[in-house]
Amino acid sequence: MSKAIQAIRGMNDLLPEALSLWQRIEQVAETVLTAYGYREIRFPIIEKTELYKRSIGEVTDIVEKEMYTFEDRNGDSLTLRPEGTAGCVRAGVENGLLHNQVQRLWYAGPMFRHERPQKGRYRQFHQIGVEAFGIGTSDIDAELILVTARLWKLLGIRGLELQINSLGTPAARAGYRQVLVEYLRGHQEQLDEDSRRRLDGNPLRVLDSKNPAMQSLIAAAPSLHEHLDEESRRHFEQLCAYLQAANIPYRVNPRLVRGLDYYTRTVFEWVTSDLGAQGTVCAGGRYDGLVEILGGQATPAAGFALGLERLAELAALQKVAGAERRPQVYVAPLADGNVTQQGLMLAEQLRDAGLRVEMHCGSGSLKSQLKRADRSGARYALLLGANELAAAQVSVKNLRAEEPQQQIGLSEVSAFLQARLLAGAVQ
Ligand code: HAM
Repeated sequence: MSKAIQAIRGMNDLLPEALSLWQRIEQVAETVLTAYGYREIRFPIIEKTELYKRSIGEVTDIVEKEMYTFEDRNGDSLTLRPEGTAGCVRAGVENGLLHNQVQRLWYAGPMFRHERPQKGRYRQFHQIGVEAFGIGTSDIDAELILVTARLWKLLGIRGLELQINSLGTPAARAGYRQVLVEYLRGHQEQLDEDSRRRLDGNPLRVLDSKNPAMQSLIAAAPSLHEHLDEESRRHFEQLCAYLQAANIPYRVNPRLVRGLDYYTRTVFEWVTSDLGAQGTVCAGGRYDGLVEILGGQATPAAGFALGLERLAELAALQKVAGAERRPQVYVAPLADGNVTQQGLMLAEQLRDAGLRVEMHCGSGSLKSQLKRADRSGARYALLLGANELAAAQVSVKNLRAEEPQQQIGLSEVSAFLQARLLAGAVQ
């Protein structure tokens, strides 16, 4: 036997058992997003490298060290998408969706970052992303947050904290940047290597450092909030008022800066302490400059993305029920040939009646078929014997409750099961 080939580090197989929770999250997300008027968009998983450099920013962890970049056979530099906003904007501009219009869009799929894999941090991970274009006022920032809050509520997810901040306009940030650089230069000896490097390129990211040795320096740093421009301050206050009116608790975190350069004004994260170090389940904000940076007409925009691995992990911890995909009925033909043939036909008939039915294929003894029926998760097994079928009957066995096995006429069996298994049926 040759040696088995293994998956790439940090890239996970998603097996059917775990996927039922993912499917539930995806279903509920689609329902919620549709209820707010968001429509799905799909765009490629690979784009020109330049797209991410220009949008995410040259001096960011993602662009500097995490992108899966390669040359294709023509020698063009391409990159597996590390996030969805850039591709969504590119697609919007290229297809004329953004100019002078309001667009509410969402997408879902895999993203790729060459990070150090650990719990909650993978090299292939999945996001549901949501982007709203053409609205500059903070009502849409509030709406995006309401979308997420409704999603947590419908899923039954508890204990997420909403943190918000404003990064102001690029001009206000440039002013603050000078003040911050002066402060950090004054404490050069306390800076770690990463921060020293960032000092010139992207000093705001120093505030995002997780190095414990840097925390007191960061805590004492001048706050961006004191340097916000008037318009951004009003935008932020209005957002806070909307959130209060909607009864959404939040915490203003003046150190929240985000790892991508395109943000302006509002940024937010939903954070949990239940997942260890990688506690940000959902994150986003406003990016009013990005559409223009990517060659479109200036268009205000805001959005967020949630990490499916992290949300599914949290949902599992909180015992959220997954989507029900297991069969409801298991059809067990106790002989080959004609009995199996009738079994196949009966299973078809039950599926026509709207039931999820697994057919036992591959023959086997009563005992082995019942064992598989049990493992399938079905509530009822239909046992088909040659003699019973000759009398146009099947045996119905409840696999999940004490109930005497009963013989039912072939023509009544689907009504019998429908009454017990379909939505609205008394359980
Ligand atoms: P982000 O903060 O880079 O933002 O990622 C959003 C979420 O994706 C994170 O909060 C986390 O849940 C998940 N995530 C990120 N990296 C990983 C990883 N390596 N493994 C597992 N999960 C991960 C963005 O991507 C922006 N495009 C969000 C946005 C949309 N802003 C505006 N519109």
